[in-house]
Amino acid sequence: MVIKHILLVFLFLAFRLSSSAKVTYNVVTFGAKPDGRSDTKNAFLKAWNLSCASTSPAIIYVPTGRYLIAPALTFSGIECKSRGITFNIGGTLVAPSSYNAIGNAQVWIKFYKVNHVTISGGTLDAQGSSLWACKASGKACPKGSTTLGIYHSQNIVISKLRSQRATTASRSGNSNIWIEKVVCGPGHGISIGSLGWELEEPGVQNVTVKTTTFIGTQNGLRIKTWARNSNGFVKDVVFKDATMMKVKYPIIIDGNYCPDNENCPSQVSGVKINNVVYEDVHGTSAKHAWQSTCGFILLLCCRHCFGITSTYKLSVTSRRVRKMMRWRA
Ligand SMILES: *[C@@H]1O[C@H](CO)[C@@H](O)[C@H](O)[C@H]1NC(C)=O
Ligand SMILES: *[C@@H]1O[C@H](CO)[C@@H](O)[C@H](O)[C@H]1NC(C)=O
Repeated sequence: MVIKHILLVFLFLAFRLSSSAKVTYNVVTFGAKPDGRSDTKNAFLKAWNLSCASTSPAIIYVPTGRYLIAPALTFSGIECKSRGITFNIGGTLVAPSSYNAIGNAQVWIKFYKVNHVTISGGTLDAQGSSLWACKASGKACPKGSTTLGIYHSQNIVISKLRSQRATTASRSGNSNIWIEKVVCGPGHGISIGSLGWELEEPGVQNVTVKTTTFIGTQNGLRIKTWARNSNGFVKDVVFKDATMMKVKYPIIIDGNYCPDNENCPSQVSGVKINNVVYEDVHGTSAKHAWQSTCGFILLLCCRHCFGITSTYKLSVTSRRVRKMMRWRA
């Protein structure tokens, strides 16, 4: 009896030790050259695959330096056993400098069906300046892609990330997303969407975006839904403590997204948006060349929006501020 008892205790301890010990995979040891010129995609994938197969929590360590990721990279969680993967990033992930290289990939760095992933620190440099210059010149240019996209994922934390020339987007089927201390700009800001392309679509819920700074971005905090029939939804979102610096649309809910007016037979989105709180969003907005006034808050065709509230303070220091609310119900 006594021996059996001791054995059980021992096994229990051994299990505790192995499950709580973290394993670390340094991308450099998998061949990533931090010179900004050699493609490091495979080293990231090797580190991801091992982390994903690991039954203990894993850390993917990215030391300082510039890591070219070309043209695009998907971290898929479909086969993961892991109970937690943390990207501990000291360096910068760099997109190919030619915007045509990312080209048709809609997302540069994509997380798909992952659970319990944390991205901490680092910079994403999508090298978008040539594309922005192309767009500003009025020439025909590619649409550009999302820098960091999260799809069908749960329990995601993004913190202390700097996103340059970029958008960060959370797409359908995501829940329990925590984004904190992220600096964006220039680029498109942080976006939930585009949602509601499909009729049957999993919703997005429980998203917190906290302590963010947007510098010269086109949008700040955005929720975007396709002007199509859909049973999708967005609920329980908190945007808290955001600083806007010359942002064109600091707060925008676009319930009518339909670029080029194509593929939107129903003209307005069916996605239900419920319980979105803006708390202490402050700073300045900027004006488009074609605008006669500038706005801080833009709600476009928000037909199924409920419980959109602003608590605490929503302070605006732009000289000419209008709340632009266009409802089409
Ligand atoms: C990572 O795993 C995926 C899926 O199992 C596989 O297709 C890919 O070749 C692996 N990549 C590397 C670099 O090990
Ligand atoms: C919402 O997500 C956070 C993490 O982002 C989590 O801690 C919390 O438990 C979630 N809330 C619910 C109701 O699931």
